[in-house]
Amino acid sequence: MSAVSYPWPGVIRRYAEFLPVTAETPVVTLLEGNTPLIPVPSFVAAIKGRFDLYLKYEALNPTCSFKDRGMTMAITKAKERGAKVVVCASTGNTSASAAAYAARAGLRCVVLLPQGKIAAGKMAQALLHGATTVSIEGNFDDALRIVRELGESGLVEVVNSVNPVRIEGQKTAAFEICDTLGDAPDFHFLPVGNAGNITAYWRGFKEYHAAEKADTLPRMMGWQAAGAAPLVLGHPVENPETVATAIRIGNPASWQGAMDAARESDGRIRSVTDEEILYAYKLLARTEGLMVEPACAAALAGLIHCVGTGEIPDGSLITATMTGHGLKDPDIAVKVAGFSPIVVPANREAVMAVMNL
Ligand code: F0G
Repeated sequence: MSAVSYPWPGVIRRYAEFLPVTAETPVVTLLEGNTPLIPVPSFVAAIKGRFDLYLKYEALNPTCSFKDRGMTMAITKAKERGAKVVVCASTGNTSASAAAYAARAGLRCVVLLPQGKIAAGKMAQALLHGATTVSIEGNFDDALRIVRELGESGLVEVVNSVNPVRIEGQKTAAFEICDTLGDAPDFHFLPVGNAGNITAYWRGFKEYHAAEKADTLPRMMGWQAAGAAPLVLGHPVENPETVATAIRIGNPASWQGAMDAARESDGRIRSVTDEEILYAYKLLARTEGLMVEPACAAALAGLIHCVGTGEIPDGSLITATMTGHGLKDPDIAVKVAGFSPIVVPANREAVMAVMNL
């Protein structure tokens, strides 16, 4: 076999000095990370913003979501400790990532999912990678409670973000943003569900600042869906509901981390309605050709909200995490598109007739 060179080594090897690994750690990687920071000027113009917006397009990770950054760490450490079985609760992306990295590592994987509330693509990933896939007659919070109980048995390794190494891996996205921009942005927008990611980003920005790799710190702007907004309401939500199934969570595990990120950075955690989420989802797709999950659009809807309230100073540098690929949830895409293919006879005249030229 001829030699192949990999210019990007995955997030653990790239940022090893900031991660709890040693030279002996058996790194399990799918070469995740190094995702593009895409400027979206047409979207900004459409929402009448007067700032620069870059989207951290995490859809281009190996399993098409940001979860791969944390999962390379979680599966690597599980392997290092000699675990045989990994388990997680998930709204879909964590389970897809866990299933893929467990397959890569040769570990058994068990995923607990809220029945009927998982986007089709995510379910397909867990099944194809061979994870034991369990549908719980309950929601994500129920599934996570059971996973915590299983973890206490000591027989399995929990790879949800209650496992601290997940947060460690996910903070590398903040490093990449600073490396690309040459500094931290003024604001960072992102969707919030179980609140691990906002916790991770804030840790990443702070560590890079402390290491003098960034001069500034961003204000952290986290967005929940109105029907699943415990952090905004200040109490758990028993029956969370939102079209953005990825963030359909009523009792986030990293509650405190999210509140600290908002408070320490002079940021905000607020909510947007499903209607606002789907508006932003479609607008991004139409103006920029980027397909993201509805959950990502919560961050964009939040930005639209802030344009309306005049909270963003002109000329600001803004980044937002697009956490997962829109192809994971094709059903919602077809619904939001609002039309079906036009069926015509197989001749040029028939096609011309529907072209409206
Ligand atoms: N966006 C997407 C696409 C997600 O899948 C998630 C979380 C979030 C945002 C929120 O991130 O939980 O760190 O605040 N998905 C988890 C899962 C819960 O099981 O896949 P968070």
